[in-house]
Amino acid sequence: MAENHGAILAEDLVKVYGGKVRAVDGVSFDVRPGEIFGFLGPNGAGKTTSVSMLSAGLRPTSGRAVVDGLEVSRNPEQVKRHIGVIFQESTADGDLTGRENLEIAAGAYGMGRAESRKRADELLEKMHLGDSSERYAKTYSGGMRRRLELAVGLVHQPRILFLDEPTLGLDPQGRAGFWEFIQKIRQENGTTVFVTTHYLDEADTLCERIAIIDHGKIVATGTPTELKDRLGGDIVTIKTATENPDMTGVLHALPGVNSLQKKDASYRVKCASGETFVPLAVEAVSKAGVGVTGVIVKRPSLDEVFLEFTGREYREEEGPTATDRAVMIQRVQQNLRGRR
Ligand SMILES: Nc1ncnc2c1ncn2[C@@H]1O[C@H](COP(=O)(O)OP(=O)(O)OP(=O)(O)O)[C@@H](O)[C@H]1O
Ligand SMILES: [Mg+2]
Repeated sequence: MAENHGAILAEDLVKVYGGKVRAVDGVSFDVRPGEIFGFLGPNGAGKTTSVSMLSAGLRPTSGRAVVDGLEVSRNPEQVKRHIGVIFQESTADGDLTGRENLEIAAGAYGMGRAESRKRADELLEKMHLGDSSERYAKTYSGGMRRRLELAVGLVHQPRILFLDEPTLGLDPQGRAGFWEFIQKIRQENGTTVFVTTHYLDEADTLCERIAIIDHGKIVATGTPTELKDRLGGDIVTIKTATENPDMTGVLHALPGVNSLQKKDASYRVKCASGETFVPLAVEAVSKAGVGVTGVIVKRPSLDEVFLEFTGREYREEEGPTATDRAVMIQRVQQNLRGRR
């Protein structure tokens, strides 16, 4: 294995389902060892499909994936031993105890009884599940289950973790707790983390770099700060009482305006400084005889970045698509087959 390879390399990855759905359409990026890399995109953008190809669960139609220096299509089984994958839905067996889930997983990776037990103990302790280790997983809370799944995903000490919406459905406390564990693992083992998430605030605080995918294509890559800076200033939304007359020209003529989008009776303006722009805008619009009904000033957050690059608001309530289930089931089956 070459010493200087990155952790994950995607080169022009393409996945076409059933000969017509181009779910992933030429995706390229690289993830450095030890990095937390966020993969964001609206529902159906191709996130789960990309994760599946990178984690040797799904064959790309074309393109190349290299994980931990291994060409994924040539060494799928070896790749699976280098990575841990956590799916967006629960994969822990509810009718087994936490400990049993872990010991069975350890056994599947070829560890003997004593070693499996030791590894299970270690992970139960680490994930704060020690007191509940003999309880059926179905009695666990959502947060506990996610921690158990994380433990299962870590049983073979993978160098790279793939997490597909790992905190979906957890309350803020559960999410924060889960991320604390991820951070700890990363600090202790230098694990690389590739994560898709619907929570942009999570991505903003946790990810070193982010790629935004839309319609199967990467539309932006960079650190959260770089991406926010790229928006070039504040975002002001001016809501007016009526859609007509159109205030586009009036607002555009004001100093410091970089761009403007109109939707119904509201105007989304990117400008150098929200503070200076707002009084000018209110005055100009009022002078034109149109009432201003609301003003929102935002320093760019990842939400704005997302809106900018995808043209869509990020909707957290949109859960996983039905297709995710199909992909996930297929992947679980392949994974199990791979371990036997
Ligand atoms: N097994 C499949 N067969 C056919 N089409 C599929 C299959 N899996 C996914 N797709 C389609 O591919 C596209 C990308 O789906 P994918 O699940 O990768 O998106 P996603 O970004 O993970 O979405 P979400 O945020 O909803 O999880 C969608 O249009 C989806 O309907
Ligand atoms: Mg998905």
